[in-house]
Amino acid sequence: MVETAVTKRRELVEKNQIRGCEVRLDQVSKQYTQGKETVDALDKVSLEVKAGEFLAVMGASGSGKSTLLNLVAGLDKANQGEIFLNDQAISGWKDNQLTLFRRREIGFVFQLFNLMPTLTAEENAALPLLMAGQPRSVWHPQVSDWLERVGLKSHGKHYPAELSGGQMQRIAIVRALIHQPSLILADEPTGNLDSQTGDQMLFILKEITEELGITVIMVTHDPMVAAYGHALITLKDGRILDSAAR
Ligand SMILES: Nc1ncnc2c1ncn2[C@@H]1O[C@H](COP(=O)(O)OP(=O)(O)OP(=O)(O)O)[C@@H](O)[C@H]1O
Ligand SMILES: [Mg+2]
Repeated sequence: MVETAVTKRRELVEKNQIRGCEVRLDQVSKQYTQGKETVDALDKVSLEVKAGEFLAVMGASGSGKSTLLNLVAGLDKANQGEIFLNDQAISGWKDNQLTLFRRREIGFVFQLFNLMPTLTAEENAALPLLMAGQPRSVWHPQVSDWLERVGLKSHGKHYPAELSGGQMQRIAIVRALIHQPSLILADEPTGNLDSQTGDQMLFILKEITEELGITVIMVTHDPMVAAYGHALITLKDGRILDSAAR
């Protein structure tokens, strides 16, 4: 039997050889200055996301949700406090170390899907592997397995303009997972989907990440969407207002 990327990773998880990324924030603050105004986008935020846990982050517009994801991804730097990925303080990491970690260990899902219009669905889904220089003979079988898994086996040759929003987001989920990351960062992944399509997408995301032991941090302002998380925090003006485990 041909071993798929999915079954391979599942076996590794069962043998305890791969686990999701552990994320910890210790008193993290981020200020942005524009002209004379300084905004506390995050204000002394401490939290812990265990390996394989699915954390939902809620909060009104401007409460600091995307800032939190950007800092965890190392796309922006905290002004105070420390972020730990797998118990390592990332403030000490060099830029290329952060870039490598991001490329290998993080999968991103965005509200606007961010697919490349000139690439087919299967090329978009395979993008992390294409960028790593893998030949078609390597990436194509993997993408085919994944497209089948998300119900899009017959859509591989379609261009994004020929897909529905829900289909585009499923391609984006495959793109986020195909390089077998240990952490998924999702910013309003259902923001452009109707509730039924959003539910389907979240079901797939949760099922796969639970099966593979991948950690997820998902931003949303919809309580129904947040209910998919194992844990929930609510931000207000850059501070954690409320947190709950399920
Ligand atoms: N690059 C930036 N420069 C200046 N201010 C910024 C920058 N990024 C974010 N901010 C400010 O920081 C605060 C938090 O922004 P953030 O994008 O994290 O909010 P959010 O919770 O993701 O909101 P939304 O739900 O609208 O996406 C806001 O007041 C925003 O204007
Ligand atoms: Mg945002």
